[in-house]
Amino acid sequence: MLRACTWSSARFCLRGNNAVDCPLKRSSEQRSRNRFDIPVAGRAAAHRSAVTALPSEETFGAVDSGEAEELGRRRRRHLKKKPGWYRKRQTGNLSKAQKQILRELWPNFGIELKYGVPVDLEGAFGQEINGLVLEVGFGMGEALTEMAAARPALSFVGVEWHRAGLASALKQIRDLELRNVRLVRGDALRLLADHMPNDSIDETCIFFPDPWPYDRDKERRVVRPQMLRLLRDRMKPGGLLHVATDVEDYARWTKEVMDDMAADGWVDCNSSETGYLITRPTWRPVTKYEIRGIEELGHDIFDMQFKLCDADMC
Ligand SMILES: C[S@@+](CC[C@H](N)C(=O)[O-])C[C@H]1O[C@@H](n2cnc3c(N)ncnc32)[C@H](O)[C@@H]1O
Repeated sequence: MLRACTWSSARFCLRGNNAVDCPLKRSSEQRSRNRFDIPVAGRAAAHRSAVTALPSEETFGAVDSGEAEELGRRRRRHLKKKPGWYRKRQTGNLSKAQKQILRELWPNFGIELKYGVPVDLEGAFGQEINGLVLEVGFGMGEALTEMAAARPALSFVGVEWHRAGLASALKQIRDLELRNVRLVRGDALRLLADHMPNDSIDETCIFFPDPWPYDRDKERRVVRPQMLRLLRDRMKPGGLLHVATDVEDYARWTKEVMDDMAADGWVDCNSSETGYLITRPTWRPVTKYEIRGIEELGHDIFDMQFKLCDADMC
C-alpha cells in the first residue's frame, strides 16, 4: 500500500518500509502554495540556509550609488523568493514614527560603513576622542544612552542590526540631547574586522547577548575566540571588556573561552572562585533583557569583567 508523507518539501510515499518517489509528487508551484506544511524544524533549517545565503553587503553602506542600486535589486529579488514569515523577519515591522526617526536622526548619529574603509571616528564625533566605549548588540539602546549620559566626557559607539533598536536608541539620543553617541547598523564582527582602527577602543560592553542555548549553535555566540581576537587588536592595552548575562551556561562558557584566550593577554578581573560576579556593578544600567531574565524566567544575573594587558603589564 502507498502512504503519502509530506514532511519535507519533496513528496515521498512509503511502500512497506521504503520511501519511494511518489507518483503524486507535487510541482514546485503546488509546493510553494503549500509551504507552511513544512514542520517547524524544517522551517528553521530553511531559515538558517536562507540567512547564510543573504548577501553579506546588505548590512553595509555600498561604495557608490550604482552598487547600492544593484544591492537593493539583489535584496528585493532575494526577499521576493522567500516565504512571508522570512520576509517579515528580515525587513522588520517599523512604524511610521520609527521610520521618521531613522530618516531624521540617522544622518547625524549614524556611522555609514563603506566597504573596506576604516571608520573616521574623530570625523564621526566631530571632536577629539578621549576614551571610546563600544556596546555590541545594544538592543533598544537603554544601557548605551544611560551610560553615555552618565559619562559625557567619553565617546560611545553602539552596534546593532535591528532597525527598531536603532530607532529606539536614536529617539533616546534626541530626548536626552546626547552628543557623545554614534550608532552603527550591522554585524559587530564585520565592524571590528573591517572598519575599527587598531588600538582605538577603551571599553567594550556585551550585555545579555543572544544565548544560543543548543550545542550545535554555540559557535554563533558573540563571545567567541574570533570576536576576542578582533577585540584584542582593536582595543587599547589596559582596555576592559564587560559581559553580563542571565544565562548561567553563557557565563560558564564566557569564563572558559576567556581562560583559553589568556595567552592573548586577557586577564580575568573577577575575584570569585567561579570567575563571575553575581551582583550587578552599580555603573551598569539595567536592560530590558535583564528585567525579562529576572522577572519572567527567574534567572540570576552574572556580570564579568576582563582586562586586556600587553606583555609589560601582565
Ligand atoms: C538578547 S539581545 C540584548 C539586547 C540588549 N543588550 C539588552 O540587554 O537589552 C541581543 C542583541 O544583540 C544583537 N546582536 C547579536 N549579534 C550581533 C552582532 N553580531 N552584531 C550586532 N548586534 C548583534 C541582537 O540583534 C540583539 O538585539
